[in-house]
Amino acid sequence: MIKQANNYANLHTFIKLKDSEFRKLSLFIYKNYGINIPITKKTLLESRLQKRLKELQLRSFKDYLKIVINEEENKEIVKMIDRVSTNKTDFFREKAHFDFLSEKALVNFLLKDDLKIWCAASSSGEEVYTLGITVEEFIKNNKANFNYSILGTDISTEMLNKGILGIYDEERIQNIPLSLKRKYFLKSKDKAKPVVRVTKELRDKATFKRHNLIENNYPTTTDFDIIFCRNVLIYFDKPTQEKIIMKLCKRLKKGGYFFLGHSESIIGINAPLRQLAHTTYQKI
Ligand SMILES: C[S@@+](CC[C@H](N)C(=O)[O-])C[C@H]1O[C@@H](n2cnc3c(N)ncnc32)[C@H](O)[C@@H]1O
Repeated sequence: MIKQANNYANLHTFIKLKDSEFRKLSLFIYKNYGINIPITKKTLLESRLQKRLKELQLRSFKDYLKIVINEEENKEIVKMIDRVSTNKTDFFREKAHFDFLSEKALVNFLLKDDLKIWCAASSSGEEVYTLGITVEEFIKNNKANFNYSILGTDISTEMLNKGILGIYDEERIQNIPLSLKRKYFLKSKDKAKPVVRVTKELRDKATFKRHNLIENNYPTTTDFDIIFCRNVLIYFDKPTQEKIIMKLCKRLKKGGYFFLGHSESIIGINAPLRQLAHTTYQKI
């Protein structure tokens, strides 16, 4: 009887995150993942982690901190990052970049035989598949013959798994032109579940891997022709942004293209890049 009452309390009680616990947790997230969570976001962190604490049947953030900070396998840390990071993304988000690729950049790869693209911070895969559609369309429209592959990396395993599956609610593709929808998405036969799946042809061109941008390692030994790193640097402070940009530039081929999110820039960072258009750069 007592046990039942306790479980009830555990399921329905809002667990408070004390300021001291917040400081410890945010410092830990910053040191290990470069994600800066200011005190103004305390309530957000507190509410995003409620469900996880309840799943683990914990009664306080003190107990949660013990697990996160002391565990060796990092499994809980991965789950925590899934909850605290913002995964907002979309097909053809910031379309100007995809227009730039089709109209100006891809023509430079006509004579090459293998185009390598890295989509760092790929979230649930929409950006990877938009790149795939853009390249496929370019190849078809220009009767080109080059091979290509796209690597999508993210810190969130939950998002990576969505990308691997390539299944999305149908409403997510409502703004894509019908001709592209028909070519690159398959509708589910189940009318009760309005979802679409990216075609196998496109999925086969994509590989997804977990990779933390602030660590010093790389997800592969490949050098890339195009790197997308959009809408993730905003979460980091300037020194971390610089470190990430320099790291990505090392894997970008000379003449290769580099793209940032609409509110990000390389101002004040001594990167080997020249600006071609808004948030669009080329390695020098
Ligand atoms: C707002 S989404 C942007 C997705 C996509 N690039 C776009 O512009 O639509 C940010 C993504 O960055 C990922 N992320 C956050 N910190 C990261 C890190 N340290 N390393 C790699 N990915 C990270 C998050 O998991 C999330 O999926």
